[in-house]
Amino acid sequence: MAIQNPYGRSYISLNGLWHIIIDPYETGSRDMFGAPNPRGYQQNRSPDTAWWAEYDFAGSPTLEVPGDWNTQREDLLWYEGTIWYQRNLPDIPADGRRRFIRFGGANYESEVWLNGEPLGKHLGGYTPFEFEVTDHLNASGNFIVVRINNQRHRDAVPTLDSDWWNYGGLTRDVLLLDLPRAFIRDYVVQLVPGTSNQYRGMVQLDGATAGEQVAIEIDGRQLAAVDVDQSGLAEVEFAHDLQLWSPDTPTLHEITVRTATDSVNDRIGFRSIQREGENILLNGKPIQLNGISLHEEALTEPRRAHSEAHARELLNSVKKLGCNFARLAHYPHNDHMARVADELGILLWEEVPVYWAIDWENPTTLDNARSQLDSLVRRDRNRASVILWSVANETPVGDARNRFLAALIDHARQLDATRLVTAALFMRSDKQERNGQTIRTFTVDDPLGEHLDVLGCNQYLGWYYTFVGDMDSAEWYSSLNKPLIMSEFGAAGRRGHRGAADERWTEDYQVTVYQAQFAMQRKISFLRGTSPWILKDFRTPKRPLPGIQDYFNRKGLVDEHGRPKAAWTVVADRYAEDP
Ligand code: GCU
Repeated sequence: MAIQNPYGRSYISLNGLWHIIIDPYETGSRDMFGAPNPRGYQQNRSPDTAWWAEYDFAGSPTLEVPGDWNTQREDLLWYEGTIWYQRNLPDIPADGRRRFIRFGGANYESEVWLNGEPLGKHLGGYTPFEFEVTDHLNASGNFIVVRINNQRHRDAVPTLDSDWWNYGGLTRDVLLLDLPRAFIRDYVVQLVPGTSNQYRGMVQLDGATAGEQVAIEIDGRQLAAVDVDQSGLAEVEFAHDLQLWSPDTPTLHEITVRTATDSVNDRIGFRSIQREGENILLNGKPIQLNGISLHEEALTEPRRAHSEAHARELLNSVKKLGCNFARLAHYPHNDHMARVADELGILLWEEVPVYWAIDWENPTTLDNARSQLDSLVRRDRNRASVILWSVANETPVGDARNRFLAALIDHARQLDATRLVTAALFMRSDKQERNGQTIRTFTVDDPLGEHLDVLGCNQYLGWYYTFVGDMDSAEWYSSLNKPLIMSEFGAAGRRGHRGAADERWTEDYQVTVYQAQFAMQRKISFLRGTSPWILKDFRTPKRPLPGIQDYFNRKGLVDEHGRPKAAWTVVADRYAEDP
């Protein structure tokens, strides 16, 4: 279980320039016959220290960490393979404290060594991981080596195909945490859904002895004090009247979790989110989610976002659009996003990259997906902004897929009974002849819907199928009696490419599709939210159309540099109608 709230702990940032070795043939880890290389790069040798060495990190180029490698060097834009990273660590005092190296995320497969000793591996490009290094550290001269490979695999999560750039590398913050011998590893404090002042939570200590007391303070007042059991776990519950969190009142409370040897501060908002029939209730009242989808790219630059500043830029733009909601597609975004959304009062849909044709029959793939979901939920379950966990995007209906996703849904609910579970589904389309008119009907009846709290539906009426004219008479149905979020819809338009209202690829046609979509959506009785695709144009190898796409998906309301298109105003006006 990852250490909760790392930025609230004592730490040294390991961000900055790391030396790199580009290694497409795995020379750093394999010998000529493919066996493990006993002289691997993890030893950080050089011709000065080993006659046989044909590498030298200190003399090698560097890359900024955090940051994807693709956009730091032109020759790495399309690179899929291994890159080795190395940096020296600051001297560490022998002070008896414990130390952990924590990675906010690295895409896709990571292997880490400290002073040549293996610390472990991590699979998955978007979830945090950490290794304890307390007993591996020397007084000085410590160094860390990381091997990262971003190659795609059939049995991976995501699988071989996805409509986004395969940004590789140490894409998020790297921290060296220092903690007392017995420390607070995890905690969660939540309002009991459906109540306005009942709280429940837990604190997990690491290295503590049974009977040690844990206290929880909110805004300086102690509200619970419980002894931990022999596993270091303490369950807490208490009543208290607090200003609840909402988009209109994003109140965050100062929380302190304290033991005899450790304490950690956090800023947590409390709210309840529930489903009641086709309604989503926030603090007991129905809410309409006016949102937008985002990939994890910086607002004004087409590269991985990773910092608090990036998060503020993106989410301020979401606010400016008039949204109270954002869908963080298609994978867990960095730690900063949910924390900034807490401050700004933006509700979030967070998801794991179980995207398109996953290897549903493969138990290792399910373990990988479950582990990524587990990491996401544990990392963000104190964030009021997060209201939805999404387990899938546009997955083909089938028995193996239904079983795979039902297992993920169960896991999310086991870990966190206070939020809603969703997935982006397809709808079924039919035609009916009625009084000489062809009526298109769309039904959301994916069998997975039985297991979900909220139905997401992606559809591109007016873009990939059926045209604008069909939408004004379209009828939508679902027998599931659940809220619908139109989780993707929209059209592409190259910014600056203007033309007739029906001219594909122009900003003007993008406007036409949005106008027709919103007119149709007004008639969907069980629609409770929208997150059109997408805030900004983003890189993808799947969109080569020269002069228009140039390897960007052009469905953004702004272009890859954050410059608005005409459709921005259509969405902003729509949301201004019923905030
Ligand atoms: C799909 C998918 C997105 C993709 C979008 C598109 O629905 O979920 O990841 O980018 O459609 O085609 O633009």
